[in-house]
Amino acid sequence: MDISFRPATSADAAALRLVFGEEPSEEQLAMAGGDIARARRFRRLMSATIAGPAGIRRTTVAVSDGEVVGLLQAGAEAGDSITPALVWGLLRTFGFPGVIRFLRRDRLRGRVHIPPPAGAYHVAEVHVLDSRRNQGIGAALMAEAERQAGASGARLMSLTTTTSNPARHLYERSGFRVVETREDADFLALTGVAGHILMVKDLAPPPDRPGR
Ligand SMILES: CC(C)(COP(=O)(O)OP(=O)(O)OC[C@H]1O[C@@H](n2cnc3c(N)ncnc32)[C@H](O)[C@@H]1OP(=O)(O)O)[C@@H](O)C(=O)NCCC(=O)NCCS
Repeated sequence: MDISFRPATSADAAALRLVFGEEPSEEQLAMAGGDIARARRFRRLMSATIAGPAGIRRTTVAVSDGEVVGLLQAGAEAGDSITPALVWGLLRTFGFPGVIRFLRRDRLRGRVHIPPPAGAYHVAEVHVLDSRRNQGIGAALMAEAERQAGASGARLMSLTTTTSNPARHLYERSGFRVVETREDADFLALTGVAGHILMVKDLAPPPDRPGR
């Protein structure tokens, strides 16, 4: 299978939404209070952020046979800046009392959030088109992230995921190891997920600059 990588452009927005998909993760379902229709609206809201102008600027797409089959967002952690558009979207998704409940749940999520180490090249999003999973595209995206990290001069890569995400196996296969686990009983009761893990991978220094 032939896969190539290139920076995303605004013309990729619809394809990025397709790759990100509409099925909420178990954590997103919990953040929507277990209401699947609301969780899907929440997922669409997240999708608009991923495929919005700021998201596109930090996105690399994987292309196979002319089709966008995967996306990668990596570099510095994007941060959770609350924009007016996001507040409006949250209000439309959850309603006013629902937003208050959402923010309460989000505070619980904050208890298990692990900030990436300073200076690490952070892999924030890796997604593969549903119909193209388990064909090695995820592993190829991780290799591309590592190439980008090396080119940026970073010496460490990082990522976070939930304790129960099966993607952990892919990350271990790509050379990442778990260095921190944050679990919280209230978060577990809310989401059914124990917590988050931080995984890192050390990068070798460039061969022409040993010891630096
Ligand atoms: C994680 C993901 C990018 C892997 O892409 P892929 O092209 O299928 O990856 P590969 O074919 O290289 O490897 C398959 C790996 O996917 C992982 N995987 C399998 N089922 C999965 C699932 N339902 N959700 C997440 N990851 C899964 C496993 O680690 C598997 O590796 P293994 O076969 O050694 O156990 C893809 O499953 C995906 O987009 N999942 C949904 C989004 C997501 O969970 N992203 C990670 C967020 S931290």
